[in-house]
Amino acid sequence: MHDGTTERVAVDLGDRSYDVHIGPGVRNLLPDIVAGTGARRVAVVSARPPDWVPDCGRPTLRLDALDGEHHKTLAEVERLCLRFAEFGLTRSDVIVSCGGGTTTDVVGLAAAVYHRGTPVIHLPTSLLAQVDASVGGKTAVNLPAGKNLVGAFWQPAAVLCDSEFLDTLPPRELLNGYGEIARCHFIGADDLLGLPLPDRIVAGVRLKASLVAADERDGGLRHLLNYGHTLGHAIERATDYEVRHGEAVAIGTVFAGRLSGELGRIPPDRVAEHEAVVSHYGLPTGLPAGVDDAALVDLMRHDKKATVGLAFVLDGPNGAELVRGVPERAVADTLAAMPRAEK
Ligand SMILES: NC(=O)c1ccc[n+]([C@@H]2O[C@H](COP(=O)([O-])OP(=O)(O)OC[C@H]3O[C@@H](n4cnc5c(N)ncnc54)[C@H](O)[C@@H]3O)[C@@H](O)[C@H]2O)c1
Ligand SMILES: [Zn+2]
Repeated sequence: MHDGTTERVAVDLGDRSYDVHIGPGVRNLLPDIVAGTGARRVAVVSARPPDWVPDCGRPTLRLDALDGEHHKTLAEVERLCLRFAEFGLTRSDVIVSCGGGTTTDVVGLAAAVYHRGTPVIHLPTSLLAQVDASVGGKTAVNLPAGKNLVGAFWQPAAVLCDSEFLDTLPPRELLNGYGEIARCHFIGADDLLGLPLPDRIVAGVRLKASLVAADERDGGLRHLLNYGHTLGHAIERATDYEVRHGEAVAIGTVFAGRLSGELGRIPPDRVAEHEAVVSHYGLPTGLPAGVDDAALVDLMRHDKKATVGLAFVLDGPNGAELVRGVPERAVADTLAAMPRAEK
């Protein structure tokens, strides 16, 4: 892929297969894709300015949305569904989302449940949403008890990752997306370090597409996408989400490398590669100031993957794999030896 060209990545899921288009201007494919679905009406739910979603030449309901975890709620799903119903949307029509990962998640869930499933096309506008959230069919909203506790698998009909959307993204949000790209280095992506951004997005999407095609419902291989996430989630919670998801995953990736080294699964140069890759993207490599190691271990014990003891996706002689029952001593020692940000 070179400047100005676009790329198509297929997510191969039998009759639920779809394409992810990546590159400058791919949002303009929307009218043709909508026409291909045979939809008579379109409902666009967008957190960005109205002209970011091209007109599809048929009756269109345009609903404003707001990105952010506070709006990723069942109440928002209900609000959208009520408006779809008033508009007369049916499941032969199509829903379009435009926004960050919080918006693609909540609109994805609304599409999954509206009339027991209505086609949805995502136009993700953050780097994190382009490389991760909008691809793969997981949709969810939050409950007061925790993030992503109510959701469904609902594959989109297409995803349009327009790299021009990223021009307005604040630098910290770009970094947030790079956290997910950095972890791709250790779960099967080729070396991405010298590549321009659109190629990195293509590589991230290609990797996710292959893991999702192999394990749509998260029963095995798809776990690999959680590389760096066990500690990452714990850091997000311990800092009350002050550390962004991608930053936390970056720190978790450095930690995963060190833990693999501690367990004798990988040699020291591979451990060092984790830190080198993460710092290459300008991401943090050390624990944030003021977090307590014991609190992190406690949070990791409650991770969804940890059915027995502590569980991590770890690099090893055969590549990355989910390792259950990791000794707490090794985890504590590795945490204690991590670099730390100054207060
Ligand atoms: N479904 C999945 O498989 C999956 C995977 C990973 C993450 N997620 C979810 O994705 C969410 C995180 O996504 P996110 O990081 O995009 O969060 P987000 O939707 O909150 O967007 C991050 C910030 O960037 C802003 N923004 C987005 N696009 C912009 C643009 N083009 N220009 C300027 N500002 C822009 C948003 O307004 C927001 O302030 C989380 O809720 C997470 O659970 C889901
Ligand atoms: Zn993630």
